[in-house]
Amino acid sequence: MSRKKILAGNWKMHKSINDARNWIRHFQGNRKGVLHVDILLFPSYTTIYPIGKEAIKANISLGAQNLHQEEEGAYTGEVSGKMLVDAGATWTLVGHSERRILFAENDKQINLKVRRALTSGLQVILCVGETLEERESQHHQEVVRRQLTEGLSEIHHDDLHQIIIAYEPVWAIGTGKTATPQDAQEMHAFIRSEISSFSKPKIASSMRILYGGSVKPDNAKELFACPDIDGGLVGGASLKPETFLAILRAF
Ligand code: PGA
Repeated sequence: MSRKKILAGNWKMHKSINDARNWIRHFQGNRKGVLHVDILLFPSYTTIYPIGKEAIKANISLGAQNLHQEEEGAYTGEVSGKMLVDAGATWTLVGHSERRILFAENDKQINLKVRRALTSGLQVILCVGETLEERESQHHQEVVRRQLTEGLSEIHHDDLHQIIIAYEPVWAIGTGKTATPQDAQEMHAFIRSEISSFSKPKIASSMRILYGGSVKPDNAKELFACPDIDGGLVGGASLKPETFLAILRAF
């Protein structure tokens, strides 16, 4: 099953509107015909609408880094799926480890967010991944299995094509440590077999699974060559368009 590759940039709490525009211009001017990879960017909420037109011209899809699980209501400071669609987002991240750890999001809430995103018309990148302690105590597969089964609970098989999984070991995010291609491949194959066990083999084999955690130009090629790794979710190295382009060339 051939799956279209994806390179996604998670800008976290970085970049003004102007910086974001300049990034897109630079990227577009230097992409040099690499069009066989889907490009997704996750800027701040306040940047999504202002850069929408440039992103469309540059063939880049925009997403949010988070959303609230309710449709609307008295939730001061929160942003709904519908608002994100209104602003031009077509994607959202859900369950990023920074949301899980710094904002105490649990699997139940993450599942509600995934479901809300889908009913709002957004496609989802569901992030999963174990901590260092969980890996060292050999609980990594158990943790990822729980994050997948709870995160995707009550989602109909027919909706799974709207979802991408990002495997991001917590110990590799922003630390400069990357999973070895062998460890990453092993987990990606595990994720695919788990998805298969609660949906259908055909759905699992068409689902795209991204690796994230200190992806850089010098490790991207080996990671992206693994059979079950369909691309990357890149944080720090997505902030400069030159570095992101260098990672894109790894495909
Ligand atoms: P990093 O972040 O590439 O800076 O490790 C990845 C992420 O948080 O999605």
